[in-house]
Formats: sequence, structure tokens, C-alpha cells
Amino acid sequence: MNRDAPSLPDAVQRMLRAVLADESKHPVLPSPSPETLRRQLDLSLPSTGRSFGEVIDELIAVARVTPRTTTTRFFNQLFAGREDAAVAGEILAAVLNNSMYTYKAAGVQILIEKEVLAHMASILGLPGGEGSFQAGGSLTNLAALLVARGVAFPRWREHGAESAQAVLYSSAESHYSIAKAVGILGIGRSHLRFIEVDEAGRMRVDLLGQRIQEDLAAGRRPFFINATAGTTVRGAFDPIDELAELARQYGLWLHVDGAFGASVALSRSRRHLLKGIDRADSVCWDPHKMMGVPLPCSALLLRRKGLLQEHLGEGAEYLFQEDDDELNPGQRNLHCGRHNDALKLWALWRHLGDEGWERRIERQYALAAHAKRYIEDHPRLVLSDEPACINVCFEVEGADSAWICRRLSQLGRQKIGHGRVKGRRVIRLVTANAALEEADLDRLFEDILEVAEEAPPPPSPAG
Ligand SMILES: Cc1ncc(COP(=O)(O)O)c(C=O)c1O
Repeated sequence: MNRDAPSLPDAVQRMLRAVLADESKHPVLPSPSPETLRRQLDLSLPSTGRSFGEVIDELIAVARVTPRTTTTRFFNQLFAGREDAAVAGEILAAVLNNSMYTYKAAGVQILIEKEVLAHMASILGLPGGEGSFQAGGSLTNLAALLVARGVAFPRWREHGAESAQAVLYSSAESHYSIAKAVGILGIGRSHLRFIEVDEAGRMRVDLLGQRIQEDLAAGRRPFFINATAGTTVRGAFDPIDELAELARQYGLWLHVDGAFGASVALSRSRRHLLKGIDRADSVCWDPHKMMGVPLPCSALLLRRKGLLQEHLGEGAEYLFQEDDDELNPGQRNLHCGRHNDALKLWALWRHLGDEGWERRIERQYALAAHAKRYIEDHPRLVLSDEPACINVCFEVEGADSAWICRRLSQLGRQKIGHGRVKGRRVIRLVTANAALEEADLDRLFEDILEVAEEAPPPPSPAG
């Protein structure tokens, strides 16, 4: 051991100070090409190692050119900002390095995880069920579909594909993780019916009902409806209560992909958007999106207890050696070794309390309302849609949205993305960072309008 090596706390403190200072000086960076970055930094793995202090310098250098996601110029995704209490929890999880499969290996961390899951479930009105954390919403949706498939087709897990007729439903604007999960699970992507949405981007329940009847008449076996709470581009909420009714009528599993929007359950004034979620069989809820917890943090919550173990549990003497399986989440999870995603969320929840979460969600909505007003008041900006969540989609009249986003990123002014609404390519602004000020949004619009002066016209709606 090198006696002159800095201690971990000293090194981490130096690194954090340097990174945070640089970030506040340069809240957004131009996007260099991969070739430029490779020329600038030595990324190779050496045969002879460097000192810990030198590695800290290298980490600082890497951070200096890494895209910023925590500053007030990042609007590119459904996550943004930084919550210090959660980061502290995340750092502690890395230092402790418990694997979250057994009580033997993780002790009190398992109790913390159970506490967090139980609280989330009770907020959704699913108090008697169970839950687990997966490494992101895509895997949470996959785990939900796996359990639902097992319930509908009990021989599938043991004996392989049980029905070539299994069919399922999701809105045309739902996230691609649903189609991906269907492919992974061997259900067949062509068996996933994409149901059209209404003007507001919500799944059409009438069309879904018709489609189920057609499938039944053709001898197929419908088993699963995915309702999205907070669609990825528009932030639309499918009518969960009506979908729950249809699911009950036909005996189908109702999953709510609330990866993005389930967080509105934390606000008394927004909770109505999730009406009927207490009737869902399973819910995906990602605190790493609206709640600002570092990635990944995604919870699967199920109405009924026991299904996770039934469909994901395995015997393994080398792992499950002590304690009731109730205390061994490895029996209820896709993962074997697993990162501790609960501690950072627990730390932030302890800091904010339920009341602080409510204020945070309200603030995000107030910021989205400010953005909407700016757009409506400006003669060159066109609002695409009435926002139901904190996504505000719009166009600059006569200018290509994708070109504007790309240019802003190249120039190192702002990071913001685009999507499609009603066939048109639009800029998607998400006010996920609760630390934004109204002035940050005004500056974003000024930058967008300035760059738009040189933008080519938008492609035709079909293009
Ligand atoms: C509605 C919805 N579901 C699922 C996901 C997937 O979540 P993750 O990126 O955590 O895998 C996303 C991601 O944006 C999403 O918007």
C-alpha cells in the first residue's frame, strides 16, 4: 500500500469539490465527437497502474467532459437535477456495497427497502401487496409482464411457450420497453396490439374493447393490458379506472406503467390523474424520474402477495442460507447480485417527508405552467398539446424542431430533445428539475428562438 495515497474521504472530497466547481462554471458542454474525446483523454487500460491520487485526477478530467444532467440547462430526458440527500445515500450504498439478495448479506438495508416499498404501495392504494426494485423501468415492466404471463399461463415457466395465441394491449404512445419485454419473454411482438390514442394521447378504451372482442372471436387469448401513466413524450395519462373495468370484465391483468407519472400520487391535487390505480394488478414507478433520485431507482408494486416468489423464486443453497424468504428479496427479483437502490430514496424521503414530495411535484407543475404561458404568449411558438404532466411540447413556427435541438447541443447552450405529437416533430421540454427557476426557462426559450432564426423548415408531418 502506498503510504502517501490520499484517504478515501480526502480523495472523494477533492474530487467532488473539483467536479461541482467545474459544473457550476460550465453548466452545459458542447458535444464533442468521440474522436475528439479519444484524442483528448487516454481511456486505455494500462499494464502498469497509477497511484490513487493520479486516478482521482483522471476521474476529474473525465467528469470535466461528461454531459451535465444535473444543471439548469438539461431538459433532454424525464430525469434531471440533483438531490443531495439522495446522492449521500447513493455514496453510502457504494461504500457499504451490500448485495440486496439476502438479509444475511444486507441486514438493515433489507428492512429499509421493505419500508420504502410498503410506503409507496400504500400511497398507491395497494397496501396488502408486495414489491421489488429493478434496475430501471424497462426491467420493472418486464418483471410485471413475466408475472402476469405466469398467472395467465401457469405451465409456461416450467415447460416453455404455452400458447401461441397469447395477446396483449398497450397504447400506440406507450414506451418501447413494453414491446421489448414482449420480445424478451417470447410472447411475440406481433401479439402486442397497439391501441390508438385520443386527441390528448390517452388510450382509446372503446377501440381496446373492440380489439379484445375480435381477438376472443378469433380464438386468441388476451391476458394483459398495459396502461401508461405519464407517456414518454406527451405525459398523457391513460384512463386507468376505465381500463380496470375492462380488465375485470374480461379477466385480464392490468399493469400500470407509471415509470414517469406514478409520482403524481404524491400530490393531493394531481392524484386524480391516477384514478383507478388501486385496482391495478401491478405498477411500475420510477423515483429516478420525477423524484430526482439518482439512476437507477425503479419499483415494481403488486396488488397480491406471493406472486413474485412464485414466478421468480429459485432454490439456491449457496445463496439462500438463513432467514425466512420474506427477508430475502433475491427470491422476488430478476437480479441475483443487486445494487441497493432503496437507500438513496429512503434518505431523500426522510429529508423531504411526504409533504416535501408534494411541494416538489407542485413546483414541477408550476414550472411547466410557466413554460406553457411563455409559449402561448409568444407569436412564434406553438403549443402542441395541453400538458397533463410536466412535459410541455411545442414547435417554433416554420423551424425544424430536431435541427434546433441538435444545434443547441452542438453550441453547448442547452440539452433538450424532440419527439412526435399528432404526427408533428416537436420540442419536448420536461420540467423534471425542481431546482429550476422561471428565469432558466425564459433563457431556454430565448436560446431556442435565437437558434431557430437559422433553422430549416420542418419536414412534412409524414416525414
Ligand atoms: C413511460 C415509460 N415507461 C418506461 C420507461 C423505461 O424506464 P427506464 O429508462 O428506467 O428503463 C420510460 C423511460 O423513459 C418511460 O417513459
